[in-house]
Amino acid sequence: MSDMQTPVNLLIAFYSRDGHTEALAKEIQAGAEAAGASVRIRRAREIVSRDIMAKSDGWIENADRMNALYEAPTTEDAEWADGVIFGTPTRFGNVSSELKAYVDSMGGLWFQGKMVGKAGSTFSSTGALHGGNESTNITMYNFLAHLGMIIVPLGYADPVLFEAGTPYGATTYSLNGNRPVSDKELEVARFQGKRVAEVARVLKTLR
Ligand SMILES: Cc1cc2nc3c(=O)[nH]c(=O)nc-3n(C[C@H](O)[C@H](O)[C@H](O)COP(=O)(O)O)c2cc1C
Repeated sequence: MSDMQTPVNLLIAFYSRDGHTEALAKEIQAGAEAAGASVRIRRAREIVSRDIMAKSDGWIENADRMNALYEAPTTEDAEWADGVIFGTPTRFGNVSSELKAYVDSMGGLWFQGKMVGKAGSTFSSTGALHGGNESTNITMYNFLAHLGMIIVPLGYADPVLFEAGTPYGATTYSLNGNRPVSDKELEVARFQGKRVAEVARVLKTLR
């Protein structure tokens, strides 16, 4: 789409409690880096106390593991980025509060128009096959629109989309932790990283 020489910065900002959204995020990073992008991968932090986290099996352990691996996203990360890919586990067909709290920290960026014209894309994980992954991806389009970002869907731009994922962004479903992310779903995620890197690179030349 455009030359691999033009530097392009991508932020992958995700939340994950059990690791499925994280697995997609890592593949998106791989796809974006293969397309020549510089990537910052960041995990939104918990917004409830550890007392509440302790009531859900594995939450504290998983959060501690991931928080040691990934920094928390900052508004400086978003400002640095030419494109942002937001990922979340679904919460009742919607974005998680943890990722939304990060998005809600962007009021100042919105006010200054800092995100206008940058690429924005979304991915998600559900428990059930039809548990709301498309609606979760689309719900996040709302804040991309308000920030003035150029929404980058996947469509069926790669044949793997006929086998996994959605035209709105990469997805997986965990069957309550009993199903790992499939190879085809990971392939969609890699394609998303490549596609957003390519589109962000072109958009950068227009800003
Ligand atoms: C409060 C809450 C609401 C949820 N709502 C849904 C839902 O609407 N549909 C669904 O399929 N799964 C739902 N889930 C399951 C999670 O989406 C699933 O565990 C998650 O996608 C796993 O991703 P992760 O491994 O990245 O945390 C919900 C889980 C919680 C805790």
